[in-house]
Amino acid sequence: MQNYNLKEAFQLIKSCGEIIKNVDRSSINIEEKDGPANFVTSYDVLVQNKLKEGLHQLFPNAKFIGEEGEQEAFDENGEFFIVDPIDGTTNFIKDYHMNCISVAHVVNAEVDFSMIYNPYLDELFWAVKGEGAYCNEKRIYVSEQPLSNGVVLFGSSPYDADLAKKSFDMAYEYFLKALDIRRSGSAALDMCAIAAGRAELFFELMLSPWDYAAGMLLVHEAGGVVTTVEGEKPALNKRSSILARNR
Ligand code: IPD
Ligand code: CA
Repeated sequence: MQNYNLKEAFQLIKSCGEIIKNVDRSSINIEEKDGPANFVTSYDVLVQNKLKEGLHQLFPNAKFIGEEGEQEAFDENGEFFIVDPIDGTTNFIKDYHMNCISVAHVVNAEVDFSMIYNPYLDELFWAVKGEGAYCNEKRIYVSEQPLSNGVVLFGSSPYDADLAKKSFDMAYEYFLKALDIRRSGSAALDMCAIAAGRAELFFELMLSPWDYAAGMLLVHEAGGVVTTVEGEKPALNKRSSILARNR
């Protein structure tokens, strides 16, 4: 791990969080993207542009892959940021206060530093490969509870309607095995909850790398496991299912 300037990266993500928190709701422009219920707002674009510019100043050699707009091609041997400027855009549109900004720094196809910021709770989750996972200054760990005493989080893959039946069947099965289930509307925050030991298992049948890249390192560094639903290593260059859990 190089000696990155984490402090400045933290300041940058927090200043983007202020933009989300202090949104002028009369000025939000909403457009539809591919798939059902898939939106992009002017704030997603605003925050992504600010992150792109700020990260470029801090890491001039890193390429940038963001959820919104033009993306640079993934290169197995390159240095990249994989960024979701607002995870949980539907929540943001609904003023539901369950959103975050998610940033993963990838070197040679492995995430080596990541941060996820929830501006409403002022919680900055971050992890450095080999050096642990944190929420603000506090070291975090996955829970030690068994599934039978656990809470299961899931995402409904809203942009892939053909996966709905399987998603809800799986949620039903987990509901019977665990204490209860939750659906937050932000996959990145769900993975933070697993890393912080606030829930025991998270799954979603189809996500994009910007939804899970940062959370993957957090869960690993907190002592948990992240695979696809089939048990494979999730890819960073294409969409994948995700299963994140304690041990
Ligand atoms: C979405 C959220 C949601 C999940 C979707 C994601 P977006 O991200 O993480 O919880 O169910 O699959 O795409 O589009 O709001 O950034
Ligand atoms: Ca997202």
